[in-house]
Amino acid sequence: MTDFSDRLSHNLAKLPPYLFARIDELKVDALAKGVDLIDVTVGDPDKPAFPSIVRSMKQALAVPENHQYPSYVGKLSFREAVAQWYESRFGITLDPKSEVLTLIGSKEGIGHIPFAFLDPGDVTLVPDPGYPVYAAATIMAGGDPYSLPLEKKNNFLPDFDRIPPEVLKKAKLLFLNYPNNPTSATADVGFFEQVVDFARRAGVVVCHDNAYSETFFEATPPPSFLEAVGAREVGVEFHSLSKIYNMTGWRLGFVVGNASVISALGRIKTNIDSGAFGAIQDAGIAALTGDQKPVEKMRRLYKRRRNALCKGLRRLGLKLTRPKATFYVWCEVPKGYTSETFCVHLLEKAGVLCTPGNGFGDSGEGYVRFALTVDVPRLEEAVERIGAAL
Ligand SMILES: Cc1ncc(COP(=O)(O)O)c(C=O)c1O
Repeated sequence: MTDFSDRLSHNLAKLPPYLFARIDELKVDALAKGVDLIDVTVGDPDKPAFPSIVRSMKQALAVPENHQYPSYVGKLSFREAVAQWYESRFGITLDPKSEVLTLIGSKEGIGHIPFAFLDPGDVTLVPDPGYPVYAAATIMAGGDPYSLPLEKKNNFLPDFDRIPPEVLKKAKLLFLNYPNNPTSATADVGFFEQVVDFARRAGVVVCHDNAYSETFFEATPPPSFLEAVGAREVGVEFHSLSKIYNMTGWRLGFVVGNASVISALGRIKTNIDSGAFGAIQDAGIAALTGDQKPVEKMRRLYKRRRNALCKGLRRLGLKLTRPKATFYVWCEVPKGYTSETFCVHLLEKAGVLCTPGNGFGDSGEGYVRFALTVDVPRLEEAVERIGAAL
């Protein structure tokens, strides 16, 4: 076989290996050795999509038009369902035709938007630690990611005043994500109003990623970025059916907000993909407009898991902030370890696989992330094993 690795594009060659691909290797090794592994790495719900959604999908499969090429921008009926959901959930009115675009999962839109805005040398401001796709997509589009450290002392919110003027001059996009993966921090509308103010001054397009808005444990649900005054003037919000309805494998998401940004991303998509499968969009309509009680049930499930894991890890003396939202627990590593050595230690001595914080960016060093995607008894067992390994 000819090895073409020396012919890769410069942009691809610049990419660090995808975090979860490395973790998969460690996992495969451990499983091959027969380890009874407790895997708390990937943020993939362990429960299936709700039965009513699966039923809608079955019906939608029988519709002949769904077997043809879908619409590039998504079915108008799906975009109307999105607008209706945004109205009822956030009190925001959207024009389904110009302010909503269907995505093949939010990752697809996040991955494509830099291609609409970046030229070589342009900068994207990315949260660090953060979802790796913001930086990776920027690099693939020929731009340069600039890290905004998210630090505990600032409640894991970025400090825009620390961005050097020469970076600001080149900045075109700003990615943010609250409720946040991996720190689980939340932001309020007041913070989003500061973001709007910053974006206006800096002339950047805000790309807020709200994939975890429905996984919350407090009485007040997390807001949409679009609730901030003027937000629609400066940016868009990515959203997803993946985590809300346990539909990660289905690949359905959307982006809402500034019509010119939506239109630019739509132009990229028209040239690169052919839209989300029509039957999945029909099932997505059923999900967004149907009974939301199963979503509440999922929240209660994650809350029980959060309580069990946080209580257990704290009992072991580990430092963490109990998450108000998301299904992640961001935990400080004990003295004497780095993120990576702590993960490897837990894997080798406890058979527990968690994610090293530095995989999400340099500022994630000193942390590991646990995903609440396994049941309470397994989480309790993980805590026991970790206790024995410390
Ligand atoms: C912060 C964040 N945004 C976006 C995504 C992508 O979600 P999807 O492409 O399934 O909509 C993920 C997935 O883990 C995520 O953690």
